[in-house]
Parts: sequence; structure tokens; C-alpha cells
Amino acid sequence: MTEAPTGTTRDSAHTDFVTGRELSPEEVRTLIARAREMKEGRPETGAGALAGCSIALIFEKPSTRTRVSFEAGVHELGGHPIVLTGEALQLSRGESIADTARVMSRYVAAVVIRSGSHPDVVELAAASEVPVVNALTPELHPCQALADLMTLEERFGSLEGRKIAFVGDGNNVARSLAIAGDQLGVEVVVSSPEGYGLEGETPATLVDDPREAVEGADAVYGDVWVSMGDERTADARLSDFEPWRIDDSLMSAAGPDAVAMHCLPAHPGEEITAEVLYGPRSVVWDQAENRLHTQKALLEHLVG
Ligand code: CP
Ligand code: NVA
Repeated sequence: MTEAPTGTTRDSAHTDFVTGRELSPEEVRTLIARAREMKEGRPETGAGALAGCSIALIFEKPSTRTRVSFEAGVHELGGHPIVLTGEALQLSRGESIADTARVMSRYVAAVVIRSGSHPDVVELAAASEVPVVNALTPELHPCQALADLMTLEERFGSLEGRKIAFVGDGNNVARSLAIAGDQLGVEVVVSSPEGYGLEGETPATLVDDPREAVEGADAVYGDVWVSMGDERTADARLSDFEPWRIDDSLMSAAGPDAVAMHCLPAHPGEEITAEVLYGPRSVVWDQAENRLHTQKALLEHLVG
């Protein structure tokens, strides 16, 4: 068993968003409500919240949604996004994470970082004097979970008592979904092949059989079978995950009103069929859009 990922709890005037648990359930609820206001009143609502502020966006791994939604979101809030790759920073030549954080804190109002190492993000946050936002690590993807819960609330009107069945790899997306679900009264059931289950302490219910997992679910959620960093084991994964594909038959087992969710990028025909991904039950494009609104609300809350 690996240890559950840690975040940062420091006496400090600012709040990070590394695990998602730094915000109280009430704060998360308010943040989702604010994101919905921002969506409704875009682009005026929240404009100016980051006036005069720069936000560093560090991407050590590829990204489409997170990178573009953060950059556009900072712009819409009146701030200036500084997008950096790992190689562009002196980090790549051995400058320490802590020194990078100390220096960044003198220039920018927040640091958003996607990294291949969760401990690196924790270390950055510990040394930073400005909020640090986790834009994905192999362990957690808390920004994704905010957008997912907003999408579910939009679709069903309320969150309390809802059930999401996550079908697939028990890693970052599943873990963050379980944490956010726990905060907002949403049951998260995770079904994974043997050897790919969620490790560490999480508030998810683990169910081996995917058909059993989706029974009574309001949403069936998928993620790629080969995450960033897992490329070496791709062949084994593609065969091990076969029975965990989200198709029409699995959606039927979930019930007539269940929606299909996916964090994207998707591989139609692998973890989800094209029929489901592009079909009437899919809310994946709303999820992707809601990344923008929830992250704007998050930055306004942490910095604005
Ligand atoms: N869902 C998500 O985080 O997508 P990107 O990897 O494109 O940012
Ligand atoms: N689990 C996936 C999520 C991509 C947004 C990965 O880490 O690559």
C-alpha cells in the first residue's frame, strides 16, 4: 500500500489547492455556485478579479484542456498568464524546487503546476508564499474533479446523494473524484482490474465487477487506460482493461438517466466507445468547458 498523497497545511495567509482538501466542503459548494454564475455571465462576471496580477502556469507534461482553460481563464479575470514548460525553467538545470518557489512568490500571485511528481508539487507549495494549484500529478487531479461535480450538478440539479461509478484506472482522476465527492455528499464507486485499483486511503467504495459498480449510478466515468508516465506498460494495460470499457451495454446496466463522463483526452474504442462518447448521454464536452469556469472561480477565491 502506498501512503495517501499529502498536501500542505501551513500557518500562512494563503490557501493552496494541492489535494483539494484545503478547501472546506462549504467553500467547494460556494466555488461551484460561483463558477456557474461565471458561466452564465461570461465574460463579464469576475472580470477584474486578477487585475494587475500575473499567474505562473508551469506544465512539465502535455496538456490541452488544463493549459488552455487556465490561460484563457486568467485572461478573462484580467490577469496575465505566464506559461512555462519544465525545460524553460532553471529547474531543468538543477535549481531547487524550493528556490524556484521562493523566487516565483516575488513575481506572481499564484503558481499553477502540472508535474510528474506529486512530492515535487507538495515541496513547491511548502516553500511558496503564494497559492499553489495542482494542475495534475500522477496521484491527484483536483481541478478536474471540481469541473466534474459542477457538470453533475448542472445535469441533475443537486449533488447530495448522487452516485458516480468510475470504471477504469484507479489513479489521479479517480482519487480526486473520490475526495471531491466525499466533500459534497456524492458516492464515488471505483471499479478497476486487479493491480490497477486505488491505493492508499480514499473515501471511494471499491467494487471489482464494473457491471455491479454502475448499478444505480447517475454517472459512469472513464479515463484513459494509459496515463502519462504509464507508456511502458501500455500493451499489458490495453489487454487488462478490456472488460472495463464503457459501452452501451455498461451504460444500460447503469439505468436510463445515467450520463457518461470522461476527463479527456479519450481514445474512442479503447476505454469508451465512440457511440457513448459522442452519444446523447455524454456530458464530456460540458465537463471540458466547466474546467474554465471552475478554475476561474478557484483563482478568484485563492487570489482575487
Ligand atoms: N482533462 C485534462 O486534464 O486534460 P489535459 O491533459 O488536456 O489538460
Ligand atoms: N489519468 C490521466 C488523466 C489525463 C487528464 C493521466 O494522468 O494521463
